[in-house]
Amino acid sequence: MKKLFIFLISISIVIPAVLLAYQWRAWFHNSPEEAYVTPHRQDRIILSFGEDTEHERIISWRCGSTLEEAQAEVVCEKDTCFYSTKGELVRTRAGESTFYQVFLSDLQFNKKYSYRLINGQDTTMWYSFRMPGDEKKLSFLYIGDVQDPEDGELLSQLRKSVQQYTDVNFLVFGGDLIESPTDKYWCNWFRSMQGVPERLPIVAATGNHEYIKGFSHQLDPRWCHTFVNPKNGPQSGKGRSYILNFKELSLIVLDSEQMSGSPASLYSHHFWLKRELEKCHKKWKIVVMHHPIYSATKGRDNTVLRWIFRPLFEKYKVNLVLEGHDHCYYRKITNYPRAGSPVYIVSSCSPKHYRPQKKEDGDYIVSDKDLYQYISVDENKLHLKSIGLDNQIYDDILFSNNKIRYEE
Ligand SMILES: [Fe+2]
Repeated sequence: MKKLFIFLISISIVIPAVLLAYQWRAWFHNSPEEAYVTPHRQDRIILSFGEDTEHERIISWRCGSTLEEAQAEVVCEKDTCFYSTKGELVRTRAGESTFYQVFLSDLQFNKKYSYRLINGQDTTMWYSFRMPGDEKKLSFLYIGDVQDPEDGELLSQLRKSVQQYTDVNFLVFGGDLIESPTDKYWCNWFRSMQGVPERLPIVAATGNHEYIKGFSHQLDPRWCHTFVNPKNGPQSGKGRSYILNFKELSLIVLDSEQMSGSPASLYSHHFWLKRELEKCHKKWKIVVMHHPIYSATKGRDNTVLRWIFRPLFEKYKVNLVLEGHDHCYYRKITNYPRAGSPVYIVSSCSPKHYRPQKKEDGDYIVSDKDLYQYISVDENKLHLKSIGLDNQIYDDILFSNNKIRYEE
């Protein structure tokens, strides 16, 4: 009896200790952040949607590390408006920066707006964006996982591809925009994407690489000041989980990393999403989340997320779930061979490539390629094309008349 007791005690200590040693790096190791000083000039300028996507935009930017009165000067035809803001000081592990945001409302259909930002003596160049008209079609690019541990060269290629699309209304990023939550990687992302987020609204999901690991598991404090999103999500995900409604489309963004470590957050997200989907009467429903409901690689299964959210996606007929994390292209059409919903897409455009291992009937995999998706919706169809940085089309899915057409 005594031996059994000693054996059980040993096991209960040894197994957690081995597991902790094995997972220590994955759970707790953070790359150190080099000390940085934020220059007093406006950078990290992002245009994003207000909750009313037809009439509201938000402009956010960073400038220096002291609080001061700043302004956005916004011009539309002969009208000029000044929007004042005070900014917020954001401290990180290695420095501090002041972030600003202005909220533009009552914007008019099909009008071009130009803006510049003013902090003391420093004024930016003019940037511009156009509000949507009464076009029936809406299109956007989805960029799954761009996590670039190098110098952002691949992102620069991506920017060139993005700039070919003069008709897209916005860009969606599926998390892991950066390799790790340090100023250096934020600099890489903004330098590589320069000229895009100032004029096209950015819709971003969080990824695990934007979180600081540890017992408290915190999102990089820069994230919510960089990507300023509607606060219409659940209490536990305000500004990170949110819904954007367009004429024919509901776009729902979920902070899957934060949820994964918190049963309370999972519950509140489930409750919120169920309520939103119940009352949603849009023709098309698309969910964006970093972690795949169906993982393409072994040992990376997100069982709890699948268990919690898949029944909701199916019951309320979500059409598409756009994901990242697995660094490959993986299309899973559920209810195969019958065309059913939803279709799950894992995609990435990153120097990191993982080897996909799982494949069942109806699945489609592309590995070692950098892909993004061109997605368009109108009242009759939803069309997704997966395109490589080599300009090849790797996948083409058309949803219309309650059917899904695709190449097997
Ligand atoms: Fe990633």
